[in-house]
Amino acid sequence: MSRIGLIGTGHIGGPIARFLAAKGHEILVTERSSKVSARLAKENGVKIGSPQAVLDGSDIVFLCLRPQAADAILRPLVFRPDHQIVSVMAGVSQDRLARMCHPARDFTQFVPLGFLEKGGFPTAAFGNPRMLAALFEPENPVIALKDEGELNAHMAACSSVPGILDLLGTVSGWLAEQTGNGEKAEFYTSQLLAGFLATMDKTGAGQLAAARDELATEGTYSLNMTTILRNKGAHDALREALTENKTRMDT
Ligand SMILES: NC(=O)c1ccc[n+]([C@@H]2O[C@H](COP(=O)([O-])OP(=O)(O)OC[C@H]3O[C@@H](n4cnc5c(N)ncnc54)[C@H](OP(=O)(O)O)[C@@H]3O)[C@@H](O)[C@H]2O)c1
Repeated sequence: MSRIGLIGTGHIGGPIARFLAAKGHEILVTERSSKVSARLAKENGVKIGSPQAVLDGSDIVFLCLRPQAADAILRPLVFRPDHQIVSVMAGVSQDRLARMCHPARDFTQFVPLGFLEKGGFPTAAFGNPRMLAALFEPENPVIALKDEGELNAHMAACSSVPGILDLLGTVSGWLAEQTGNGEKAEFYTSQLLAGFLATMDKTGAGQLAAARDELATEGTYSLNMTTILRNKGAHDALREALTENKTRMDT
């Protein structure tokens, strides 16, 4: 079992701490956000300390801060050369991490979503994926990335999740207008996609297109749907958003 510290215990730090505590690791967190950390201490046996105490009592340190706050919080702290640093901060480069966490040298970057706590999150990571796999597998499969360009591309793809949820919200809202029952419409829409994706073969490239083509055959409403979305520019808009987000992370 490892001694793991988290600096930042907010929306993403909380689920990570709960997952790792449940696996039996020794977890130390910073006090802020105090409601989250107090609950972690009460329900998950996690210890609370100052940011420096978290560093001193940990071998692996998760940085779960907002990027704009990170420099001011981390630079006054004393890191060790043997600290293994895991950053979940989107768009924070290895160079910047090295400056903030000097003299630490072992950096791993990944951008999780909170459902990693329940398992099933594809943990695309750059840096030390073997260390991350030891912590998060088998519940969350780790995908090793070769450089920060690949990492930023995966983070941009991850940012499509709320965009796609927004589109699903349009489906659900439209269905509710037709039926007058928002609750059933939302359940139907989300379970439709969740059930479909849960049973779909996800190994190998081309599975998404194959699953689409099984539905969208000649003369079907499914084909009508994919054609209209393509012709009206839905895919172009999505590609533009993905590229813009990656470009912002790269710079
Ligand atoms: N939310 C997500 O789903 C998600 C997904 C992937 C990656 N991320 C990344 O995770 C990082 C954190 O995002 P978040 O959504 O978890 O933000 P958040 O909820 O605001 O968490 C930031 C944490 O930093 C704490 N903090 C602020 N100032 C501090 C200080 N001086 N000392 C110690 N802790 C301090 C905050 O405490 P207070 O609450 O007391 O201010 C809070 O616990 C971001 O870099 C983001 O890119 C988030």
